[in-house]
Amino acid sequence: MRVLLDREQIERRTRELAREISRDFLGKNPVLIGILKGSTMFLADLMRRLDLDPEIDFISISSYASGVTSSGTVRLLKDLDGDISGRDVLVVEDIIDSGLSLSYLRKNLLSRNPRSLSIVTLLDKRVPRERQVFVDYVGFEIEDLFVIGYGLDHAEHFRELPYVAVLEPDDPSGPYGGPI
Ligand code: IMP
Ligand code: MG
Repeated sequence: MRVLLDREQIERRTRELAREISRDFLGKNPVLIGILKGSTMFLADLMRRLDLDPEIDFISISSYASGVTSSGTVRLLKDLDGDISGRDVLVVEDIIDSGLSLSYLRKNLLSRNPRSLSIVTLLDKRVPRERQVFVDYVGFEIEDLFVIGYGLDHAEHFRELPYVAVLEPDDPSGPYGGPI
């Protein structure tokens, strides 16, 4: 297992993003929308650094059945609790891969007439995009590798790791002390 981004790097970048977002949303009362489940750790760390009075809500979509390849379709698994019409919305995502999830979500959320819609993602994979997605804030650009940790999973495992690592299935030093 290879650590790509350690705790300190993530914390430093999250503070910077929080400063930038706080400046941009000054005087506003945004709704942060966490995309379940991968964004939960990032959302928690980001929101506690914001110098704002945000509300939070969650939405759950699925584009990956399980495993490491996209199934190409997006399903809405859990909708928001609240109404976002007229609100300043900040979508908080863990990672953009093909862009399919976010382009679906963007269209879906815009149809509810928010006052503004912005997107922050912790990770942005450098891959040729099926869908072009405009993202307002990016934590880190990474290579096209399957990563785990800091909320990101492989078949629901490894979300609890406090760092982002590259999944290497044959590595004997996996995060749980053995090969995965
Ligand atoms: P997209 O629709 O292809 O952009 O996929 C985005 C979603 O797939 C993310 O929100 C993640 O939940 C998941 N995903 C994409 N790449 C990875 C990865 O490297 N590790 C874990 N999950 C990933
Ligand atoms: Mg996700």
